[in-house]
Amino acid sequence: MSPGMDALRVDVAIIGGGAAGLMCARVAGLRGRRVLLIEHAERVGKKILMSGGGRCNFTNTGTSAANFISANPHFCKSALARYTPQDFIALVDKHGIAWHEKELGQLFCNDSSRQIVRMLLDECAAAGVRVETRCSVVRVQQHDRGFALTTTLGEVRAQALVVASGGLSIPRMGATGFGYALARQFGLAVRPTRAGLAPLTLSGTHQQNYHDLSGVALPVEARCNGQRFRAGLLITHRGISGPAILQISSYWQPGDDLRLNLLPDDDAFDALRAQQRAHPDAELRSVLAELLPRRLAQRLCELALPSLPMRQYRGAELRVFAAQLQAWPLVASGSEGYRTAEVTLGGVDTDALSSSTMESREVPGLYFIGEVVDVSGHLGGYNFQWAWSSAHAAGMVA
Ligand code: FDA
Repeated sequence: MSPGMDALRVDVAIIGGGAAGLMCARVAGLRGRRVLLIEHAERVGKKILMSGGGRCNFTNTGTSAANFISANPHFCKSALARYTPQDFIALVDKHGIAWHEKELGQLFCNDSSRQIVRMLLDECAAAGVRVETRCSVVRVQQHDRGFALTTTLGEVRAQALVVASGGLSIPRMGATGFGYALARQFGLAVRPTRAGLAPLTLSGTHQQNYHDLSGVALPVEARCNGQRFRAGLLITHRGISGPAILQISSYWQPGDDLRLNLLPDDDAFDALRAQQRAHPDAELRSVLAELLPRRLAQRLCELALPSLPMRQYRGAELRVFAAQLQAWPLVASGSEGYRTAEVTLGGVDTDALSSSTMESREVPGLYFIGEVVDVSGHLGGYNFQWAWSSAHAAGMVA
């Protein structure tokens, strides 16, 4: 493929060499389709490489539709049922990649996420897939019963076009709004996008109250809009992060009420009463420091209630304070946005796609898979599973 030459003719052109694009290319290639995978970055699978702290949390054994956010919560079910976490584990095992379960069904490579990219590239090579990196698609038009692509490496004609260009998160890794623009060009609706799985920022007095506690970490239960996640909280210079916050951030919008249960494993009132009986002369802040990180305990006392010897508190006062500890309000001002977000919420409207094939209902031969679709997973390997499953669904028919 080089500029100025006759158009390259393929059965399937796939735009985007990330998790979904690589898997779809493999599956279509194994069916004997001539597949061209187009990636505009200098290498494929950059997000896989950086994922899971370099060890790629490649799936979650507990995957179900409840782990995904979408305007249509049922849309993801068909693809997830037909290419399951067990199917991907079998592929990983076939390549001799050692893995372990970290917690809650989250599977990681023992060694490196590079192994997952290597595996997918080896699979693509075995399936005869042609991979072009540093190649940008300039224009896409419908042509005969297929598609004509103008790329920086020449013209391409394809019977089927699969858009696997991902979302907007981490622009420095090659994220673009290309897939959304292409969907609109072909008349598909795109649901509003925003950053998901992102740290939240605090501002004004809310930031002043906590910024010097940067580095403090503790288990919490974060609650917002009827959702709750029990996991770690990390206080940062700019706001709050950690798995509990990343998870709840996908359900939070500015102005929403965000509450943290700072003692998710205890009944706070019982714990304070027991301390009052055992240590009546101890000050509240020392008692609290037995239950929470010391610096945070001190700050909570400053913000909520003067620190006195425990015997001086009436039961009703302790009950009010305990209730505050279990529903601590945090007024976030915003999210860190796409710069650090792990996913993009929203995207190509699932109403426009077949849930069993990912094909456009109106434009035969046009498919959307992976993160560009309005299906976003929780933290914990679900987003890659969606990439594998949706890619498999399209790869089996494109
Ligand atoms: P993805 O973004 O992977 O790939 C899209 C590809 O298309 C990119 O290679 C991009 O360069 C290319 N592209 C874009 N526009 C193009 C154009 N116009 N022309 C050609 N190519 C174009 N999930 C999970 O399950 N477990 C985990 O451990 C993590 N960890 C994690 C860490 C970090 C830091 C991030 C940012 C994200 C994660 N995720 C994750 C989320 C996961 O990475 C994400 O959901 C998948 O990569 C989505 O796969 P896609 O193939 O849809 O998009």
